[in-house]
Formats: sequence, C-alpha cells, structure tokens
Amino acid sequence: MTHRRLPKRAFLVQLACAAACVPSLAFAQAPTFKVGLILPMTGPFASTGRQIDAAVKLYMADNGSDVAGRKIEVILRDDGGVPDQSKRIAQELVVNDKVDVLAGFGITPSALAVGPIATQGKTPAVIMAAATTGIVATSPYLVRTSYTLSQSAGTMAEWVKRQKIGRVMTMVSDYGPGIDAEKTFKEHVERDGGKVVGEIRVPMRNPDFAPYLQKIRDEKPDALFVFIPSGPAVSLMKQFTERGLDKAGVKLIGDGGVTDDDTLNDMGDAALGVVTSFHYSASHDSALNKKFVAAFGKANNGMRPNFMAVGGYDGMHAIYTALKATKGQGKGMDLVDAMKGLSFESPRGPIQISAQTRDIVQDVYIRKVERKNGQLWNTEIDTVKAVTP
Ligand code: PHB
Repeated sequence: MTHRRLPKRAFLVQLACAAACVPSLAFAQAPTFKVGLILPMTGPFASTGRQIDAAVKLYMADNGSDVAGRKIEVILRDDGGVPDQSKRIAQELVVNDKVDVLAGFGITPSALAVGPIATQGKTPAVIMAAATTGIVATSPYLVRTSYTLSQSAGTMAEWVKRQKIGRVMTMVSDYGPGIDAEKTFKEHVERDGGKVVGEIRVPMRNPDFAPYLQKIRDEKPDALFVFIPSGPAVSLMKQFTERGLDKAGVKLIGDGGVTDDDTLNDMGDAALGVVTSFHYSASHDSALNKKFVAAFGKANNGMRPNFMAVGGYDGMHAIYTALKATKGQGKGMDLVDAMKGLSFESPRGPIQISAQTRDIVQDVYIRKVERKNGQLWNTEIDTVKAVTP
C-alpha cells in the first residue's frame, strides 16, 4: 500500500471540510454512517483487536445495521499498536473516507495520537480500550467506554487495606497506564499510613519478567501488585510460578488484565487464587452477560469475551444510541453531546458516560480466579458501585 502525505495546510483545509461539508439529508438518499475502527490487529496487542472487532460485529448482528435511516458501515484498519500508524490512519479515515466517528484505540499512545485529529476534524472518537486516566480530557471529541487505571488500581488498593496486607511491591508496564496504576495504587495505600516497599517498571513491549521477579523474590513482599497490558500479560503468570514466587508466599494481585478472560484458561493452575480488581468478568452473573458470552462464543469458535470486547460492544451501543437521538444526523459535537450522560446496562453491569467528563462511571469488582466445571473464571467476590474515572 502507498500512502500520500498531504502538506500540513492542505491537510487542515481537508479536515475542516470533512467537518463542514455535510450532505443535505433532505434531498439525497441518507449517506452511510461510517465508523472508522482503528485497532491493533497484528503485533503484541493483536488479542485486543481480535476481541473488539468480534464484539463490534456481534453488536451489529444483534442490532442490525440500519439506524435512524442510516446504513452503518464499519471501516476496520490495523495500526499494529503503533501510535504513528494510529494517527496516520485516523487522518486518512477523516479526510479520505469522511468517517462520522472514529473508534477503537487498543493502547493509550494510540488514543493520545488520535485526539488532535478528532479535535481538528470535529470527529467524535470513542475509546473502546485505552485506559490511562487523563486521556479523555485531551480532546472535547473523546468519549470512553473502556475503563481507567484509577478505577482498577484504586479499588485494588482499598481491598489491600481491608485485608491488612502489610508489605506490597508494584510492578507495572513502563508507559501511561502502568505509571497511572503505580501512582494511584501507592497514593491509596499510603493515604492511611500503609507502605509500598518497592516499585518496578518493566518495558512496555516484549518484557522479560525474569530479572524483575528475581528481585521481588529477594525482597519477599506479602503481595505484588501488577499492571501489564492485555497481550503481554500472558507470560507473566507462567514466569511468576516458574520463579517460585507463589511458593515463597508472595501473593499476586493486580489490574484484571493480568487474569485476562481471553487467555485465563491457558494460564492453568498458576492463576488459581489470584485476586484482581476490574470492571468486567466473563462470569459476571447477569442474564445480559450470559447471553453476551454465549453469543460471542457461538460467533467466534468458542472464544470467551474479555474486557476489551465489552468496551467495543458498549462503544457501539453508545454510537447507535447517539445516532438515534440525533435523528440520524449524527455529526460532530451533536453526536458527542448525545453520548453525554448516557446510562445503560452493559454485560459488565450498569454503566454511565459522565455528562461532565465524557468518561465512564461503572461498578468495579474484586475477583478471584477459581476453577468451575473444568474452566478457570474470575469470580466476583465484592463490588464497589459507580466508581468515577
Ligand atoms: C492502555 O494502553 O491504555 C491499555 C492497554 C491494555 C490494557 C489496559 C490499558 O489491558
């Protein structure tokens, strides 16, 4: 594929036109409503792309592709989880394809790279995956249906305090959400006189956990709090037990990406008993979730949906609902306005898009890995209601 680079001025003019040149619906057949879906379909975060793509397809199969007189068309583009690619693809989608909304963004750097394009092109962008707390504030066109690290790490820290776990270390991926998790966790733990006894940051891509785990073993904390993004998190569990940290009495706790539903069954007994805090478990006990998990599995060779899938499914719901609310006009800030304050039942439980922040408010669960009917599940053991971002 070849890519034409536009001079900056021409690009800005085109962005402005993409925002302003709305065909009149009164005289023409209503144009298709285009969703530019940017996901990592290849590379270390490909599981995120696979999950969200499947969830978007499921939402459309469940709800049809005609909304308020508009035919919905999803244009899926692979950014490989490389932010420069996310940005270039977003420009092309806005300028050339004239998409009505951007969506997806598997990792924080991708969402941050797309924010300015959303602003310049006056194009709403729905964050279905990225989770660093501050992202949504970077553009008035951003809306989030995933979660924030302050939701998961803050809830985990409060649980640590309730359990009176004394010496805790943190290990996080060295970029936005990891640093966010580390900071939030420490702040909560130390607010009431607790102590984080060591902080480790590991490379975002291709981390080799072995040397870090050795250091943690030597330090022998009571618990290790971890944030590793979905995808690279898989190898952590294996190395944690291989290095004998479980036998040394270090309790593994963390953001729920560590016991990702997509790969939990591959982790085997090493994952049993691991406690995490998160906004979605495939074992969430509701009629809606049971239906969602069954339909997702049926459409995808038995694949279990994870938190990324739910972010994608709910993101499509927000888009559909806003398009209906604007009577099919669904353009720019009107679409964003129509998403503000939305509240609905998701497979994860009740959620709301804050009218003030455009960010997600949701229940956060403490979960424990258990084996049930031969499979591993994140069983919800406690709930903190309506946690703000
Ligand atoms: C992020 O980069 O924001 C991110 C990626 C994967 C996760 C969580 C957060 O599991």
